[in-house]
Amino acid sequence: MRSLTAALALASAASACQRDWDALHRRIERHAEHGHDHGHSKRQDVEFPPVLTETESILVNSLDSKDLDSWSYYYTHGDHLGGHNRTMAEWTMQQWSDAGFDVHIEEWAASSSFWIWYTAPIHTSLTLNRADGTAHDVSLIEDMLDEDSTTSYPNRIPAYHAMSASGNVTAEYVYVGRGQQADFQVLKDAGIELEGKIALSMYGGIYRGTKVKNAQDNGMIGAVLFTDPQEDGEIIEANGYLPYPDGPARNPTMIQRGSVRFSSLYSGDPSTVGYPSYEDAPRNDLRPYNPSIPSVPISIRDAIPLLQALDGHGVPGVEANRTNWVGKLNATYSTGPAPGSTLHLDHLMNGTVAPAWDVIAVINGTHDDEVVVIGNHRDAWVIGGAADPNSGSAILIELARAFGRLLENGWKPRRTIILGSWDAEEFGLQGSTEWVESRLPWLITNAVCYINIDVAVSGPRTGLSGSGEMQTIAVDMMKKVLFPDTWGPFPTLYDMWYNTTEGHISPLGSGSDYAAFYHNGISAIDMGSDAGRSDPVYHYHGHYDSYAWMSRFGDPGFQIHRAMGQWLALVAYHVVDDVIIPWDMPNAARVLRNYYEDLNATLAEAYPDLSIDLSPIDDAVATFADEADRITTVAQQALAFNDTILIDVVNAKYRDFHKGFASAGGLPGRPTFHNVISAPGLDNGYGADVFPAVQDSLSSGNEEQAVEWVTKSAQAILRAAEILKV
Ligand SMILES: *[C@@H]1O[C@H](CO)[C@@H](O)[C@H](O)[C@H]1NC(C)=O
Ligand SMILES: *[C@@H]1O[C@H](CO)[C@@H](O)[C@H](O)[C@H]1NC(C)=O
Ligand SMILES: *[C@@H]1O[C@H](CO)[C@@H](O)[C@H](O)[C@H]1NC(C)=O
Ligand SMILES: *[C@@H]1O[C@H](CO)[C@@H](O)[C@H](O)[C@H]1NC(C)=O
Ligand SMILES: *[C@@H]1O[C@H](CO)[C@@H](O)[C@H](O)[C@H]1NC(C)=O
Ligand SMILES: *[C@@H]1O[C@H](CO)[C@@H](O)[C@H](O)[C@H]1NC(C)=O
Ligand SMILES: *[C@@H]1O[C@H](CO)[C@@H](O)[C@H](O)[C@H]1NC(C)=O
Ligand SMILES: *[C@@H]1O[C@H](CO)[C@@H](O)[C@H](O)[C@H]1NC(C)=O
Ligand SMILES: *[C@@H]1O[C@H](CO)[C@@H](O)[C@H](O)[C@H]1NC(C)=O
Ligand SMILES: [Zn+2]
Repeated sequence: MRSLTAALALASAASACQRDWDALHRRIERHAEHGHDHGHSKRQDVEFPPVLTETESILVNSLDSKDLDSWSYYYTHGDHLGGHNRTMAEWTMQQWSDAGFDVHIEEWAASSSFWIWYTAPIHTSLTLNRADGTAHDVSLIEDMLDEDSTTSYPNRIPAYHAMSASGNVTAEYVYVGRGQQADFQVLKDAGIELEGKIALSMYGGIYRGTKVKNAQDNGMIGAVLFTDPQEDGEIIEANGYLPYPDGPARNPTMIQRGSVRFSSLYSGDPSTVGYPSYEDAPRNDLRPYNPSIPSVPISIRDAIPLLQALDGHGVPGVEANRTNWVGKLNATYSTGPAPGSTLHLDHLMNGTVAPAWDVIAVINGTHDDEVVVIGNHRDAWVIGGAADPNSGSAILIELARAFGRLLENGWKPRRTIILGSWDAEEFGLQGSTEWVESRLPWLITNAVCYINIDVAVSGPRTGLSGSGEMQTIAVDMMKKVLFPDTWGPFPTLYDMWYNTTEGHISPLGSGSDYAAFYHNGISAIDMGSDAGRSDPVYHYHGHYDSYAWMSRFGDPGFQIHRAMGQWLALVAYHVVDDVIIPWDMPNAARVLRNYYEDLNATLAEAYPDLSIDLSPIDDAVATFADEADRITTVAQQALAFNDTILIDVVNAKYRDFHKGFASAGGLPGRPTFHNVISAPGLDNGYGADVFPAVQDSLSSGNEEQAVEWVTKSAQAILRAAEILKV
């Protein structure tokens, strides 16, 4: 059943790291069908040219493309895998300090910084041995390019899957499509033996660790994941585009690294789930949280011989009857196995506990019980990391400097501003999660919201996801940012965003550092931009996510960086300094109602014979909407009369109501996910399910538990409404 739900569901736009265009468009169509009102006006209603206040102009003019270019250059010319580069943390600290912030590297008790568990490869090899006795050795690193200096650094990092298991296995292998549960069902229905075989899976659609988990759950003993040009829209060699570095198409040797931890089950350090990983912290059993079978990622170039060796064996790809099963390589995408053709995967990982470094910068506000956290991770899979994550890192330096301009003029923000430069996000959101876990009571009491910027720029297409109350200020500020004219007739960032999304904003799933904040009941948004179907292909988690690629193809002149930085600066400024926190509470209610309707429609389609009474949620949303309207009126009055006591009361409620959504015990089977409104889908891992505990209970066949979670979810909404009550 899960697969059906997932196919309909609120898929992957919420991932900072990768967007699934098909899923996004399915969702947009679905919203149109259900007549959802997302409340965001069409282009013609937007004022142009934008009118900015004096302070807004100072901020916007402070962002500089040349500076962004030089910060990007710094971040993308040294190994900065999680826990590898303290110097880079110190440099970041210095930049923020120069801008006027109080800074420190997070140092804990007796230890220096926090200690995270992770794995590094000691030895990996993968060989195809064909039935005819010939063999093919797979390369686990990209080609070095003269045009891209960091691809030939001696300490460049080979491709691997963080948190994968060690193993030395030789077996026949089966192509499993995109590795979703429904794909495995096709194989089982066709009588293909999976037990004891190695899975060959296409990347795309769902989070990679979920593919490995599905292979493992079907008795397979290893997994090989390949990139297919199917992901690349129109920009493929077959359409006449040259591969990078000669053109915008994907370089066929590129390999997508990444973590394969079970991300929909937990966030942070898998050895300290739910508590901070101090050096001397007790360590829990890792087995529930990471795969027990070895897996490796491979390139297009090496996928071709592996797929071709299966041609003519098992079910041909077109007969699997699954969308996205057949990709764009020269093969039939047959399931196999091909008798006598085997893969030999020898993979030895070293588990270690080692320090990692978060950089924290603070400006105290006049109200120290109202705190806004703005964060980006610093660690990257490759020497470069120009898009993921250092486009965001470069922007955070410019943001600090923009606020620095205001500080020079004597500005004292109303709210305390915290900037976070997180380490070790790529292994599993360790830096941000452990920081949140170590500060939890204080954050729950004082945090107004968290703003995340990870892949700020990997193309021109603006993306936004997150909490309903924060959406309107984020969208309004897009209208004040001019967009570079290189990318089409889109005068403002808003126009680009509207063209990309038709006004649609996804709920948060997982996949970047907002997870720990959002799941402890803190309002959060995620800001970024991607490549669309006709933009230069972004080499996600590969060595060509480099400064050379960014400055030639991704964002020549660093103009999108500038626009994204201006947007962030305007949003952050209003959130930290408006007298009343700029939340749109009626929009929060509207978003809850849309999610309720999504849940209702999803259940009706996936479980047509089931009748579960969802009216408790319906009623709770109605109560929430009443309180949202009421407090909005009170907020307007408080401002009109400059009633400082009432202003403080409204702000406290705006800060606190979201905590009502966090369920104390966590979602069933997911101890670190508390937010009953949305969470990463269990068979997706990136994109979000709404009312996840209800959906999870049903997909595991537990109707009684689903009913219980309808009640608990409704109670959570009523708790939030109660906090808003004035
Ligand atoms: C850390 O990063 C900086 C900047 O990219 C680089 O110059 C330095 O060599 C890196 N340090 C290590 C140990 O790789
Ligand atoms: C892996 O197994 C092969 C035999 O299948 C053996 O030759 C090789 O030495 C093993 N590798 C390691 C690291 O033990
Ligand atoms: C795919 O559909 C065709 C035509 O309906 C059918 O013959 C075939 O068995 C299906 N394949 C699988 C794997 O179910
Ligand atoms: C596709 O592969 C077949 C062998 O499987 C080969 O004969 C053919 O030339 C290939 N086509 C292209 C366009 O590479
Ligand atoms: C494994 O990790 C430990 C701890 O970080 C390190 O000291 C050791 O050198 C590593 N072993 C290998 C073979 O890389
Ligand atoms: C900011 O506030 C904190 C807590 O109130 C205090 O410890 C710190 O010294 C303040 N920093 C500055 C620069 O005033
Ligand atoms: C987006 O822009 C393109 C190019 O101008 C246009 O053809 C398309 O209709 C626009 N789509 C939306 C949803 O505005
Ligand atoms: C809930 O779903 C049913 C079945 O599709 C539909 O008839 C009903 O209108 C939906 N209710 C709401 C509030 O969306
Ligand atoms: C509101 O009142 C506060 C405190 O009395 C005062 O400092 C502030 O200037 C007033 N603001 C306006 C807009 O009148
Ligand atoms: Zn990232």
